[in-house]
Amino acid sequence: MPPTTTADAIPPLPELLSNRYRVERLLGVGGMGAVYQVRDLLRDQFHDPQPRIALKALNDNFAAHPDANALLYSEYALTCRLNHPHIIRPYSYHIDPVSRRAFLTLELLDGPTLDQVIVDRADGMLWPQLQQIAIALLSALAHAHAAGVLHGDLKPGNVMLTTAGLRLFDFGLGQACAGNLQRLPRLSRRLAAWTPRYAALELLDGGELTQASDVYAIACVLYELASGHHPFSRLTARQALRMQQDKSLQKPGNMPSSVWRELRAALAFEPTQRNSSAAALLQAFTEGKQSWWSPARRWRLRPTGTPSVAEASE
Ligand SMILES: Nc1ncnc2c1ncn2[C@@H]1O[C@H](COP(=O)(O)OP(=O)(O)OP(=O)(O)O)[C@@H](O)[C@H]1O
Ligand SMILES: [Mg+2]
Repeated sequence: MPPTTTADAIPPLPELLSNRYRVERLLGVGGMGAVYQVRDLLRDQFHDPQPRIALKALNDNFAAHPDANALLYSEYALTCRLNHPHIIRPYSYHIDPVSRRAFLTLELLDGPTLDQVIVDRADGMLWPQLQQIAIALLSALAHAHAAGVLHGDLKPGNVMLTTAGLRLFDFGLGQACAGNLQRLPRLSRRLAAWTPRYAALELLDGGELTQASDVYAIACVLYELASGHHPFSRLTARQALRMQQDKSLQKPGNMPSSVWRELRAALAFEPTQRNSSAAALLQAFTEGKQSWWSPARRWRLRPTGTPSVAEASE
């Protein structure tokens, strides 16, 4: 639940921020933030061919929180710590002197988020496409973990397939797990609007965010891309555990067995049994090869006629 302070206690976001960023349009609204396409007038002045960037502010309910500016700064500082081709590039953090609203500026992304991609491929992705996306996404997460940064909100809506490649974004629920960045303010997950169906069991039980909880979330996303559906019928880990849904979990047909062994381990409800990591998943997806003699290929390779059910299901 967002804080109860009334939204009209804070001024609306002005159309011109810090006398430099002119809001052009709303790009998206999440549980906590609103992201706009803005024109950077300074870039314009110097005839930069790309004067448009993205600007993220907290939405009106969250902006009323007493720690709002510090929380947005935390998202900025964590993202700045990362330097990876598949992680969004942050540019700057500001507090508009007139409205006192905090905002950060970011690389402008253009493309579908993975939740749109999943809707478009109801039966899941072919292995070569899945492998390409998984390697990009896992290398981004492995980089963040190696740098001591936890994402905290991995879900298809926080990954975009842009014309310049995949980008992982939205470190708004992120945390540092190593180094002096641990002193940054943290948003209590009780206040945050997060998505429970990607949350590891220990988070639902009020536990600390860890690398293992990010691993559970990314495994759910990868399973969903591979099969077209959430591994546990969109249930939370606690509901799925109660219904023993892990017992009936099936390997997505397009996935090599070696990759499935690693993904299966990453989907374990109990953190003590989740013997995987972003780096181990990355290695499995990188080395994974679809068996040449898989049923899917035999359908395509047969020169004439339709294969019999027996042949196709072997
Ligand atoms: N840099 C960007 N360029 C273009 N669109 C963006 C960018 N960043 C975010 N968006 C769009 O805005 C939406 C909300 O952004 P973001 O996920 O950062 O906000 P949030 O409030 O933290 O979301 P959540 O509901 O996941 O907590 C995204 O789903 C995406 O559609
Ligand atoms: Mg988001």
